[in-house]
Amino acid sequence: MIVELAKGIYWVGVVDWAIRHFHGRELSTHRGTTYNSYLLVDDKVVLVDTVSTPFQDALIENIREVVAPERINIVVANHAEVDHSGGLPAVMRHAPNATVVVSKRGVESVEGHYHKNWKFQTVQTGDKINIGKKDLVFVEAPMLHWPDSMFTYLAGDGILMPNDAFGQHYATSHRFNDEVDQEELYEEALKYYANILTPFSKLVTKKIEELLALHLPVQMIAPSHGVIWRKNPLQIVTKYQEWAAQVPERRAVILYDTMWEGTRRMAEAVGDGLAGEGIPHKLFHVAASDRNDIITEVFKSRAIIVGSPTLNNGVLPTLTPILEDLRGLKFQNKIGAAFGSYGWSGEGVKLIEEHLTRCNIRVVAPGVRAKWQPKAGDLAECKKLGRLVAAAVTTA
Ligand code: FEO
Repeated sequence: MIVELAKGIYWVGVVDWAIRHFHGRELSTHRGTTYNSYLLVDDKVVLVDTVSTPFQDALIENIREVVAPERINIVVANHAEVDHSGGLPAVMRHAPNATVVVSKRGVESVEGHYHKNWKFQTVQTGDKINIGKKDLVFVEAPMLHWPDSMFTYLAGDGILMPNDAFGQHYATSHRFNDEVDQEELYEEALKYYANILTPFSKLVTKKIEELLALHLPVQMIAPSHGVIWRKNPLQIVTKYQEWAAQVPERRAVILYDTMWEGTRRMAEAVGDGLAGEGIPHKLFHVAASDRNDIITEVFKSRAIIVGSPTLNNGVLPTLTPILEDLRGLKFQNKIGAAFGSYGWSGEGVKLIEEHLTRCNIRVVAPGVRAKWQPKAGDLAECKKLGRLVAAAVTTA
């Protein structure tokens, strides 16, 4: 159902209640998502972003409830990723003479996806396009989160359309932030930030400073996923500033896998050590847990403690994806430690410590190894490891 945000400004997107994985299977979307597309009807008719390809017909029907799609003069493609540009070919079939407005890098990425000779207009920060009574103003936002990403601001109505930024994978029957459960909303907004934007945190800080310095009145922030921030819209900008600073909470997360429960028992003993010192923690059996939920917890936590038995002179392969995320997401201000059982060679703990160090996660206590099943003394060492990490969490 289309929604009018302001006079002549319509949400014509779709709600994808069913999707449970995004980017192939890279990102879990427990609460589905929305693909938000905005139709601006002034002297010119403008569409800002489209929807994922399977929903292209629904987009066209939504547009048709307001105007004939053939009347579209301008399509702004803030970002070429297919969840936002997938409906572009269908829109351009209806409005073949429309101009596709993109950032400089957007020409390459949109052409690269669709191989079409559409009429492109490139814009850069500060450029304006008059659409009648109102102007569109553009702000490039490279690497938030693709090189082509940009924000579109509708002057007059004060609506910022920042594409992925400030979004959430959150399917709901509501369109606005003040209508939904705030805990769910912020869980999804944080998961989105932690899993997608963490490595670009310095750019997030810089871009927000640049945006605020423009002193643009902001009545609404209308991202391309999830709900539209209309009640105190800058609250999510403030949250992003806080998240981008990457100041973790005084808490810890224990990530482990186990073959015959020895490393699990060690993990629990480490947890006991943390708890004894009053440091809250969560414990994830990585082979049985959602990787993206783990990342969100890692993002929040000061300490990351990783455990694996040694297998084939390495760690259990089930740990590899999360170890790869610790590297690729470039977390800041983390400390860590390692533990694990072994039968003969026993390199697993050392390899984890080396990996943590490479990931800029400072190892703050010597790793604990237990041969075969951990004995009472090994578990006491694990508990001590928890206490040492707790001390580092408290003092750091
Ligand atoms: Fe970067 Fe929602 O796509």
